Amino acid sequence: MASLIRTTLLIAVVVYLVAADIPFVEPGEGCVDGISAYRVGETFNKECQTCTCEEDGSVKCDGKQVCCLYAGPDGETLRAEIAEPFNDGCNQCTCNYSRKNRGPWPCTRKACSCSYKNWERVRGYTEIGNIVPVFDRKGDGDGDYGCPKYCTCNEKGRVSCKQEPCIYF
Ligand SMILES: *[C@@H]1O[C@H](CO)[C@@H](O)[C@H](O)[C@H]1NC(C)=O
Repeated sequence: MASLIRTTLLIAVVVYLVAADIPFVEPGEGCVDGISAYRVGETFNKECQTCTCEEDGSVKCDGKQVCCLYAGPDGETLRAEIAEPFNDGCNQCTCNYSRKNRGPWPCTRKACSCSYKNWERVRGYTEIGNIVPVFDRKGDGDGDYGCPKYCTCNEKGRVSCKQEPCIYF
């Protein structure tokens, strides 16, 4: 009886994870963090921290709190260390402290097309015609919640997300 309950519970958990679309990995095979899955030994960035997927399925992070987060050419989140120079896709900047690690930083002030914030609310710039991941604060128009989308930098130099569907994971 106890084993039947245990089996039922396990199946319920697996069904729940699959239904929620959260990647499921067996212990010893990898780690799940948010919506991403990683192999054992793989390192990845999480905000300013560097994290490693451990053998037991846990994620160990170095606890680093301060850096500068900006969006790279494909809209991916990149980071710079304090005092490190970086290019935000438009301007040459120097990383300094900011409350949420998202600026503002001291930068050159070029006029650039298409400023946007990616899915992690990190600012970036892109050229006309490019498609980038954008967090649209206005959402899909049905609710008041923002959502992730893929949007195009238009001829006016603006990223317009109005017609784009929200992306759900
Ligand atoms: C970082 O740079 C920005 C832009 O120049 C400035 O407004 C801000 O005060 C600086 N922050 C610190 C902690 O020096």
